[in-house]
Amino acid sequence: MSILRRPKIGVVGGGQIGGIIALLAAQDGIDVGLVDIKGGLAQAKGLDIEQAGYAGSFGSAVEGGDSYENLEGSDIVIITSGLPRKPGQNRDDLLLINAEIIKAVTEQVMKHTKNPVLIYVANPVDAITRLGKEISGLDSNKVIGMAPFLDSSRFAKLLSEKLEVSMKDIVAPVLGGHGDTMVPLVRYTTVGGLPLLEWVRQGKISQDEVDDIVQETRVGGGSLVKLFGKDAPKGHGGSAFNAPAMCAYEMAKAIIKDENRVISVCTSFDGLYGGGDGHGVNIKRGTYVGLPVILGAGGVKRVIDYPLIHEEQTELEASVGAVLNEQNGLYEIESLGLKM
Ligand code: 2OP
Repeated sequence: MSILRRPKIGVVGGGQIGGIIALLAAQDGIDVGLVDIKGGLAQAKGLDIEQAGYAGSFGSAVEGGDSYENLEGSDIVIITSGLPRKPGQNRDDLLLINAEIIKAVTEQVMKHTKNPVLIYVANPVDAITRLGKEISGLDSNKVIGMAPFLDSSRFAKLLSEKLEVSMKDIVAPVLGGHGDTMVPLVRYTTVGGLPLLEWVRQGKISQDEVDDIVQETRVGGGSLVKLFGKDAPKGHGGSAFNAPAMCAYEMAKAIIKDENRVISVCTSFDGLYGGGDGHGVNIKRGTYVGLPVILGAGGVKRVIDYPLIHEEQTELEASVGAVLNEQNGLYEIESLGLKM
């Protein structure tokens, strides 16, 4: 008789995001290996979550500490390591600092796991995820960045509020880099199955209001950084953590349970994207950028090609240009030792 084991995910970084992911997974009956350089913090969070199991009716193991051995047996590792933004910093300012951290962490993760799927959270996420792919040497469908899902969540939340429709019934794809150039795709956004533009036509929301929501989505992360300001939780840079944790966990769950969810994630693409009304956007081999994908067992199963009209192609082209620039920068950081 074979003995079935519980699925297990690894989480690197025991800060706000890592701790929340560990709790979400444990509540769903998934074991967790939680690693942080502050071993006591990871161990304490792990034990604390296990102790929540009595009241919460779950019995998952959450093994925390500073050893990467805790990741052994993980099918997926969510890497939350990296510093968050401070007020006045943009996501790109973080590249130099976070790239070194991500390289070291990814090397350790690869030593202690077998052919895992890796999900990256730190910013600038498109470059960080590309770096993860380079360092891990995994197939590109197994290395994914979280943020476009977070951008979709913010877009959906704003629409839900305005239209008084449950977020569950909104599809809100966001393409492009996770930054001010991101492309919330209004034409493919649906509310209750009806195109958002039809809600505009029926006078339920104006085009100006849609434009404002698009802009608010683009700066959603920065607005939270400003709000946290000096009141950010101690030891935390003051950036979003609940929604990022939920997004990263739901991605991991889609993979573990082979849910084939259609969501926007940061993924690698090679070729022409969105060639509807025009030639499409040429995405150079290996560029990591936000695109809608089918997410299930093994990671990204397929990138979904949304035919784009000219303006959308222009916006996506600009966004791809911005993230590619940043990704090229990775190859100039000597300490990373990457070869083009
Ligand atoms: C955000 O958008 C952390 O970049 C992340 O909140």
